[in-house]
Amino acid sequence: MNKNVKKIAVLTSGGDAPGMNAAIRGVVRSCVFNEIECIGVFQGYDGLIQGDFKKLHVRSVSKILGRGGTILKSSRSEAFRTVEGRKKAFEALQRNNIDGLVVIGGNGTFTGAHVFYEEYGVPIIGVPGTIDNDLYGTDSTIGYDTATNSVVEAVDKIRDTANSHNRLFFVEVMGRDAGFIALRAGIATGAIAVMLPEQGQSIEALIKVLEKGAESKKTSSIVIVAEGDTNGGAYEIANKVKEKYSGYDTKVAVLGHIQRGGAPSAWDRVLASRLGVSAVEGLMMERTDEMVGIINDKETFTALEQAISMKKMLNIEELRMSKILSI
Ligand code: F6P
Repeated sequence: MNKNVKKIAVLTSGGDAPGMNAAIRGVVRSCVFNEIECIGVFQGYDGLIQGDFKKLHVRSVSKILGRGGTILKSSRSEAFRTVEGRKKAFEALQRNNIDGLVVIGGNGTFTGAHVFYEEYGVPIIGVPGTIDNDLYGTDSTIGYDTATNSVVEAVDKIRDTANSHNRLFFVEVMGRDAGFIALRAGIATGAIAVMLPEQGQSIEALIKVLEKGAESKKTSSIVIVAEGDTNGGAYEIANKVKEKYSGYDTKVAVLGHIQRGGAPSAWDRVLASRLGVSAVEGLMMERTDEMVGIINDKETFTALEQAISMKKMLNIEELRMSKILSI
């Protein structure tokens, strides 16, 4: 372990995710345990540039383990994309004698962190926090489980009204470029089909599935649409289906940001806590420019460059089984 790490800063950036607070707590508690000073940076990279820092004590993170959102707040910083912005951020770190940085976020956050490391050599560890689960180098990202549970709860309710009226519902869920939430939620709610960006299923193929369902006496159906699907969002897909198929009275529900809020699940609390602790331990072991994830229940470090450039694949078995289960 490197005893030279004396002061670590932590920030959350990009779209918030349930469990980010548990990760912050993990970082702070791990710092205190190892006699490292911990600084919270507010508003993500914007706060790093502006020097919006506050010392975090062991009790600063009391009672946040089960809270959604992020106590440090977040931003999608335009300024950090610029050379001048990153220079100011480096100067703020130097002024405050910070010798390590933990960034909790997703793809955009890690892209910025990697560039920052290349320019200034600041020791950085990334913690995967995004509901999309689209990061290579970890089986699950912080917030993915909770967001999927929120979708399942909502779709169960939609199912009640869909059944009562014999309707077909297109439910749009988050996942800018990835279908992880849609696939899991589809299996967990018994959806007739899932529309995923990775899959590229055509409208014609979807209509065939709907026709088969109607033939086998399905009275109502749910189609889960990942927002990044190549055919468009739920409204667009519903309209395209209606043009060619009139078998059902059709409705659309876009779940939106409710998926990002709420108390983190037990799974996300444990995942985030482990990753928060491991991030600090990574810096103490002189690791940098890496993301800490969990693969097969084991803490694993992956180069940030790989985490952002490699495509994380959907679970092919889940995809195969979703088709069997939905007939
Ligand atoms: O990256 C997480 C995510 O929730 C995506 O699923 C979604 O497309 C995006 O963020 C929405 O971002 P914003 O809250 O900035 O509109």
